[in-house]
Amino acid sequence: MVALDGPSGTGKTTVARKLAERLSAGYLDTGAMYRVITLAVLRAGVDVTDADAVTAVARDAVFTIGTTPVRPSVTLAGEDVAAEIRGPEVNHAVSPVSAVPGVRELLVARQRRIIGEVLAEVGGVVVEGRDIGTVVAPDSPLKIFLTASAEIRAARRSAQDTAAGRESTHADALASVDRRDRLDSSRSASPLRAAEDAVHLDTSELDIDQVLVALSELASRRGLLD
Ligand code: DC
Repeated sequence: MVALDGPSGTGKTTVARKLAERLSAGYLDTGAMYRVITLAVLRAGVDVTDADAVTAVARDAVFTIGTTPVRPSVTLAGEDVAAEIRGPEVNHAVSPVSAVPGVRELLVARQRRIIGEVLAEVGGVVVEGRDIGTVVAPDSPLKIFLTASAEIRAARRSAQDTAAGRESTHADALASVDRRDRLDSSRSASPLRAAEDAVHLDTSELDIDQVLVALSELASRRGLLD
């Protein structure tokens, strides 16, 4: 198993999926799980600051999350929501929702279950998130913490939004990246931080292929790559 943590805009998702393909492993995007619960909360018209109501929505939400790296699916109440969970409404509300301890408890338990199932089925899994090396799977044999400057991460986020047909300026993207970093790092329940034994990699000056080469080498040294 590989635990891949770090803030958004570090190339984490693209790299995690490609690394999973290279390792012939499964893939779990834990951010997508917090996003799908956030969408359920928004659809229920619940106030994101009402922790009890948010936890109740999380408990009742019927969702699935795919674990194949090529095209991981996400459904909520049987509907494909893979695109909607990346939209601006969810982007805005996901930090407060993911700070609710009851939500984290439910999702961490489900993540551990999924990891166990994928490991049993395909023998390996790359899991990306914020607290994988620290909370979800502290025994993971390889923990990676990706970083990049806020400027670079905002530029990447803005390019992603534009490619997906969403309007985005660099200033908006930078404000959004800054806001989410602050909220994710300062919350009391499982804040974003690197595990003590994580390997840090700054991707500011690297393209995806260079990051992939670096991570593949690490995986190979740990005996995770044939
Ligand atoms: O990786 P992402 O941008 O899709 O994550 C969405 C949000 O979910 C992000 O603001 C932080 C939160 N998150 C979290 O708290 N813990 C995780 N393991 C993964 C994501």
